[in-house]
Amino acid sequence: MIANAMVRMIVAAHLALLAGAVYADGAADRGKELYRIYCTQCHGVLGNGKGVNAATLSVQPRDHTDTAEMSARTDEDLFKAIKHGGKAVNKSVLMPNWNANLGDDDIHLIVAYLRELCCKNN
Ligand code: HEC
Repeated sequence: MIANAMVRMIVAAHLALLAGAVYADGAADRGKELYRIYCTQCHGVLGNGKGVNAATLSVQPRDHTDTAEMSARTDEDLFKAIKHGGKAVNKSVLMPNWNANLGDDDIHLIVAYLRELCCKNN
């Protein structure tokens, strides 16, 4: 019993820390932080499509640092792909839909971060 309660407290403390890390940053950093939490396992910590899961996927995650490819997408295309999944933009179903995890405001922040990744300071 006591051990269980301890574990729950530790888990709760970690979740609070994680949430704090997301919300303490300004809006600009929030998109980056959300990307780190939800997207890097496939798209990579550098956003270059080489996440730890990439090797097991039959369709490779988009390299979000590819300026030419990413410039060919509108913000609306990216938003739709994130909210409704790859299938919504005629891409692979291996790109999950995130509408259950992320609200529209958060998705807009992630799109803004994708624009930084692909097309700024390159
Ligand atoms: C389970 C692995 C996985 C995760 C997690 C994942 N993606 Fe993807 N994503 C993919 C794959 C695979 C594709 C390539 C689909 C294709 O080319 O047919 C893709 C494609 C995309 C595209 C479309 C790019 C284009 O070519 O138009 C966007 C935008 C995108 N992902 C953003 C994200 C964001 C933002 C997150 C986090 C919220 C995320 N992805 C999380 C696997 C993933």
